[in-house]
Amino acid sequence: MAKNVEPVYYGDYLQLEQLLGAQQPHSPRYGDEAHEETLFIIVHQVYELWFKQVLHELRSIYGLFAQPQLADESLALVGHRLRRVLTIQELMNQQVQVIETMTPQEFLAFRDYLVPASGFQSIQFKELEILLGLNRQRRIAFDQQSFYNRLNDHDRAYLENLEAQPSLFDRVDDWLARMPFLRFQDFSFWSLYQQAVNDMLDADSETVRNNATLTDAEQQQELKGIAETRENFAALFDQQRYQQLRDSGAVQLSQPAMLSALFISLYREEPVFHLPFQVITSLAEVDEKLTIWRYKHAMMVQRMLGSKIGTGGSSGHDYLRKTTESNRVFKDFFSMATYLLPKSAMPVLPQQVKRALGFYFSHQTQ
Ligand code: HEM
Repeated sequence: MAKNVEPVYYGDYLQLEQLLGAQQPHSPRYGDEAHEETLFIIVHQVYELWFKQVLHELRSIYGLFAQPQLADESLALVGHRLRRVLTIQELMNQQVQVIETMTPQEFLAFRDYLVPASGFQSIQFKELEILLGLNRQRRIAFDQQSFYNRLNDHDRAYLENLEAQPSLFDRVDDWLARMPFLRFQDFSFWSLYQQAVNDMLDADSETVRNNATLTDAEQQQELKGIAETRENFAALFDQQRYQQLRDSGAVQLSQPAMLSALFISLYREEPVFHLPFQVITSLAEVDEKLTIWRYKHAMMVQRMLGSKIGTGGSSGHDYLRKTTESNRVFKDFFSMATYLLPKSAMPVLPQQVKRALGFYFSHQTQ
């Protein structure tokens, strides 16, 4: 690092004059200043700063995944930066409490001065969603129409351009799909595994049939659920059926990516899989924490507005609550758990496969 020769002044370095001069409540323009408006502005600004940092990390992670090969060191860096994102997300989720110290009536004192500005116009939040992999078709109907109507031309063009690029989800899918583990010679892992899962589902069905506490209707319901799991599981190994699941939106990952992710999760203790498993888990956590934020924000909005509509024109709480489930990006990493087996039921890996997944050092004696 070059030596610091020019003395730096704290406030100049952080541009505090600009930063601390950027809280300008609107209520004094119309009457008395609403005391809580400053809190409202600062909380939003703090979120926007954290969005900026999260985007900074995710863009760098995206860049690493965009390489034709992802080296082990890069994967370690991805894991490291994802952990930072998760730590910030944790903080963002806790911060909802700060805005909740404002009462609904205190909010009403300045709310009308904000119309029609809305969180809909948080370009960084929308960028975060798009970068992760939320595309327009997956947004709920209201959002599909309204998403771009509320933006100025510059912001709309910026986000539309982003939507046209592959997302982090697409890059992660490519990375998983090109993993070599599924193509070992003579390695009939998947047929052994299918058998083991079917045995597990047979045992589950038997448990349901023998459960005397269930009514006939409950038994039928449970058995139907198991039959559906069996159906979806079988589709994992059948290109056409899997594509149908994908077209219906039931799964998002491509078939090879899904199988790789499953294989990594099943054998996560093998040394080669430590980092990939950590990355898969962290991406699932990013999704989970974002879902928690959406939910907390939706609850807070209900507390503030009841069933009033939002300043951006949505149904408010109702709209936001729906997005908590529909806007998830890495949901497949969660649903995959349906097909995980207890260790005792796992097919034993052939020796040559096990060797390829481990760290082997030969100790030569002379
Ligand atoms: C009194 C506090 C708040 C209220 C009443 C509120 C209300 C709303 C409502 C009703 C919406 C739906 C869009 C609309 O119709 O306007 C919305 C969206 C949004 N809000 Fe808030 N909000 C509050 C605080 C915050 C804070 C602190 C943030 C932090 C950045 C935030 C970020 C967002 C974002 C990003 C969206 C878009 C979400 C999406 O489209 O999925 N909001 N908000």
